[in-house]
Amino acid sequence: MGVDTRHLVLVGLMGSGKTTVARRVADRTGRRVVDLDAQVEATVGCSIPDLFATRGEEAFRDCETEALQATLVAEDRTVIATGGGVVVRTVNRELLRRSSHATVIWLDATPEALLARLGRGSAGRPLLHDDPAGVLRRLHGERAAWYAEVADHRIDTVGCSLDEVTDAVVAMLEAAGSSVTTTAEADVSQEDRS
Ligand code: S3P
Repeated sequence: MGVDTRHLVLVGLMGSGKTTVARRVADRTGRRVVDLDAQVEATVGCSIPDLFATRGEEAFRDCETEALQATLVAEDRTVIATGGGVVVRTVNRELLRRSSHATVIWLDATPEALLARLGRGSAGRPLLHDDPAGVLRRLHGERAAWYAEVADHRIDTVGCSLDEVTDAVVAMLEAAGSSVTTTAEADVSQEDRS
């Protein structure tokens, strides 16, 4: 089985399951996992809601672009959970489209399914403070074409458990003839490159 040195990047709206699925895929494939929102929080030293409140969304977007660039350049065979708005900036979409960098999977769902999944989870998401149902509908309309633009694969997650979504992501990697290795195999491939 060939070794895929590309990152696996999960994109999709808030509530699509990116963070949880990324962790589970990383566990199963022996890859490292990076959550871009967590990277931003670690870099700025405050939560994303605080960053939005004190410095505004554009400052958050600047940090998000920096985190994406740094992760794509520095890490190998990483599973990257992005924030839902990573596709908003053209520069980010260009980074993601370069297939030498990443295999991108779009976890899609209807706004209604996302809202049901988020439940009280919308509290930590500054964009969902007011009218989360309306915002999710608007963002789905605005961003669907951008997710499609960057994604190599799309998974319709409506009605799926996170385990089923994880299985689908791993199956896509296997079908790509690539990167589902045990942790031991992943270690060997690291040595091969050194
Ligand atoms: C955002 C999604 C959030 C976070 C920020 C902005 C967006 O990430 O990056 O609140 O613009 O959709 P999740 O998709 O992980 O919730």
